Amino acid sequence: MKIRVFATAELATVYVAALVESLITREPHPVLGLATGATPILLYRQLVAFHRQGLSLAHVTTINLDEYVGLAPDHPQSYRAFMEAHLFRHVDIPAAQTHVPNGLAPDLAAECARYDALLAAHPIDLQILGIGPNGHIGFNEPEGALKTRTHVVTLTAETLAANARFFPDPAVMPRQAITMGLESILQARAIILMAFGAEKARIVKAALSGEVSTAVPASFLQMHSDVTFVLDEAAASGLGAPVAEASAPLVEHFSR
Ligand code: PGA
Repeated sequence: MKIRVFATAELATVYVAALVESLITREPHPVLGLATGATPILLYRQLVAFHRQGLSLAHVTTINLDEYVGLAPDHPQSYRAFMEAHLFRHVDIPAAQTHVPNGLAPDLAAECARYDALLAAHPIDLQILGIGPNGHIGFNEPEGALKTRTHVVTLTAETLAANARFFPDPAVMPRQAITMGLESILQARAIILMAFGAEKARIVKAALSGEVSTAVPASFLQMHSDVTFVLDEAAASGLGAPVAEASAPLVEHFSR
């Protein structure tokens, strides 16, 4: 496990974007696992900038982590719409190579099975993750037991509270989502978790504590052989020496 700490989210994002660009230029058929939320927006903006400078994404396949149940793809708060607005619409990825779970599927169990088959057919080269304030990755919420494969999840009160900023009318806020499971995430060849801001410091510390717990789903990332936490200084502010010693990560600081 590697931990990269940058002075700002912007600098951290440049680092991640360079890694993604290198994968896209190196691999004939790269598969990117993508996330939504505030955290990766700068990354997508940077990839769009690379595209405008000549980077083609025509050979890329993308597989998103999750989608709200009950929202149509063109609903402005759907994750499909988020990806269109921040990335897909601005680059040359063919639509058929972009995958987000269908939150309107009449048979949700069949939709989960379809997504698992998609993941089996397209192993993810690089999975981009954010982290929820409760430690979720995708919508794998803290619970007594975590699910391995794509499943329907009922969102926790903490996640609903965090999502409320995107839903002016709380009555239409979805209570359920379809999400990739923990094992599917851990099957990615490489994983980058990005976390920015002081409000993520507590959960980043918990995720890197040296213990694995279903109470902090992101803590399972410690078991992956190629995972990098990319943090700004605020999100890394809880990582003292004892944490570094317990989990023996490689901490590198990239300052201005
Ligand atoms: P955020 O969400 O990027 O909006 O902070 C991250 C998450 O909930 O996974």
